[in-house]
Amino acid sequence: MRGIILSTIIICSSLLATNGYEVYKDKCSSCHVEMLGKKQTLNNLDKLKAPPMIEVSNRLKENIIIKDDDEDIHRYLVILFIKDYIINPNLDHFMCHTGAMERFGTMPSLKGKISDDERQAVAEWIYDRYEDVEFK
Ligand code: HEC
Repeated sequence: MRGIILSTIIICSSLLATNGYEVYKDKCSSCHVEMLGKKQTLNNLDKLKAPPMIEVSNRLKENIIIKDDDEDIHRYLVILFIKDYIINPNLDHFMCHTGAMERFGTMPSLKGKISDDERQAVAEWIYDRYEDVEFK
């Protein structure tokens, strides 16, 4: 009996937890496509509204460098950057290709349109979704 109650609680709380992929689909996918190769991206720049999410993920992971080779700290910092960028996009601290910035302009802030939980969930999703998936 206790096992049933416990598993019910676990199932319910995982249903309540914000799903990063759902947040992505709802709030990011209108501009950032999920997957696209580098070549197709370059060939379709005029149709895209923003860099593909795979490129964003890859580039941030490459550019955010820490001294210790600690995966957890690196993940934490990349997620922190994404969470901040969503509500505070800014030319001064963007890390994408400058060509991308010229082509797309700065991302509009989603301040007031996304909750803290959703920002956390989507940032984690962006990091984990492209684990070992290279933008090439
Ligand atoms: C209205 C279009 C639009 C939407 C919606 C949008 N973005 Fe962006 N985003 C952009 C553009 C354009 C850029 C490239 C220019 C820039 O970096 O500001 C960008 C860049 C980024 C970057 C890269 C910053 C860097 O330094 O390279 C991140 C991270 C990002 N977006 C996350 C998100 C997330 C997460 C969501 C959804 C919660 C989202 N964006 C929704 C247009 C959008």
